Amino acid sequence: MIYLKTEEQIDGIRKSCRMLCDLLDTLEEGRIKPGMSTKDLDAFCHDWIISHGGKPAILHYEGFPASTCISVNEEVIHGIPRRNKIIQEGDIVSVDTCINLNGFISDSARTYPVGKVSEDRLKLIKVTRECLYKGIEAASSPRARIQDIGAAVYKHATRNGYGVLREYCGHGVGLEVHEDPEVPNYVSHTIGNPRIREGMVFAIEPMINMGSQRIDHLDDGWTVVTADGKPSAHFEHTVAITHNGLEILSQK
Ligand code: CO
Repeated sequence: MIYLKTEEQIDGIRKSCRMLCDLLDTLEEGRIKPGMSTKDLDAFCHDWIISHGGKPAILHYEGFPASTCISVNEEVIHGIPRRNKIIQEGDIVSVDTCINLNGFISDSARTYPVGKVSEDRLKLIKVTRECLYKGIEAASSPRARIQDIGAAVYKHATRNGYGVLREYCGHGVGLEVHEDPEVPNYVSHTIGNPRIREGMVFAIEPMINMGSQRIDHLDDGWTVVTADGKPSAHFEHTVAITHNGLEILSQK
């Protein structure tokens, strides 16, 4: 069931999203350095969230053992931060996390280049970010439906020769980490296609592979990797539909 939010609830979610935007902006400032482990990066984010008055909403969520998902290169999503995973120059690092601020949940992700990164990886990052904004644009048009988002994301990704994950989707968010509806990045014939309407709050999150769409899971039970070992990128915003139309909450 899709839970439509009140203006007061959207305001709470907006504050949570602004905080998450600040955290992800902080990481843009060259804070992800070669030589640091993904565990170090997770610890930085964990401490940042706590010191700003939030709670890391994914810590222990369905048993996830950390405060952020950190996925490097061929890791797509749900990477578990670990001490022996050392970030190298030329890596692309996706950071995906949720903050609980006073009971309101935000969800956002970005992929960061570390140091000098190859042209093809920079292009993957650029196109994945563009896919997010194509999806947002599709959701903004009057009388749009949820699957218009995936149609736009899929078209832009495949036009660039990239693979689009089928197994993981965007989702409703705000009072829980995962709510209805599912928001696929392709046109699904099995997932519903509700009309987008005032009060909806959901996360749009293209996960785009440089090569094939096929994925595997690591033995840790969480980390999703590309089957062909080629890199993957991930961008995500939480958006709300208010009486003024679509608002990107996790952006300032
Ligand atoms: Co999400």
